[in-house]
Amino acid sequence: MNVVVSIGGSVLVPEPGADRVAAHARVVEQLLEDGCRVGAVVGGGGVAREYIGAARTLGANEIELDQLGIDVTRLNARLLIAALEEETVTAPARDYEEAGDAFRTGNVCVMGGVAPAQTTDAVGAALAEYVDADLLVYATSVPGVYSADPNEVDDATKYDHLTAAELVEVIAGLEMTAGASSPVDLLAAKIIQRSGMRTIVLDGTDPERIARAVRTGEHDGTDVVPEGSGDEPTAWTRDDHDE
Ligand code: UTP
Repeated sequence: MNVVVSIGGSVLVPEPGADRVAAHARVVEQLLEDGCRVGAVVGGGGVAREYIGAARTLGANEIELDQLGIDVTRLNARLLIAALEEETVTAPARDYEEAGDAFRTGNVCVMGGVAPAQTTDAVGAALAEYVDADLLVYATSVPGVYSADPNEVDDATKYDHLTAAELVEVIAGLEMTAGASSPVDLLAAKIIQRSGMRTIVLDGTDPERIARAVRTGEHDGTDVVPEGSGDEPTAWTRDDHDE
């Protein structure tokens, strides 16, 4: 099973520290042991926001700020690489081809951001599309996709299940509300829609939830299911789920 896990910077590195990164690396290794090929995409989180905030005050333009953000995502990706026992990955892949090569030859690749004017949400979706992933998992700091920003709106409801078209609609609505944040951005949602990628958005602060979702399909987040496919997942790594 080919799986891409997009780990938010605020999930992997709420502050630079070893334990949480090591726990996420263990999950990547467990999935490799299960026989998965794993692509991990790492976000910039609070550290990126602090750098971007400081540089904006200093007069940097938006593209320069994006480059700064990309550098922080790659820094976080290097932390994950440092925690992996795999010796095949030595640096974050710079583009999809490099990531795809590592994925096919060593069964694992790690990336941060790649190009300005997007976030690692889109990188995760594009990598998943590029390596023909069976499953894309967004490990975020929120429990799933909501009808509105749950930090702002009391009666925001979490979706257990969405089609990709519904995901695009929900995210587009969220992005039009100033200040509201969505767990997956619109470009990522559009890539998911065009590729028909089975996707899970979950709270990844406990990395074991990622392992469980990949292995069994069980999670408390939001399932984004390609149109036309049934409720049952196409492939989970644990056979006992199929029995
Ligand atoms: P993130 O993907 O971390 O953005 O990239 P985020 O929305 O803050 O997500 P969390 O908090 O980690 O979940 C950080 C910044 O890096 C730049 C953007 O400026 C983004 O806001 N970036 C990242 C790019 O320009 N291109 C990329 O491919 C990735």
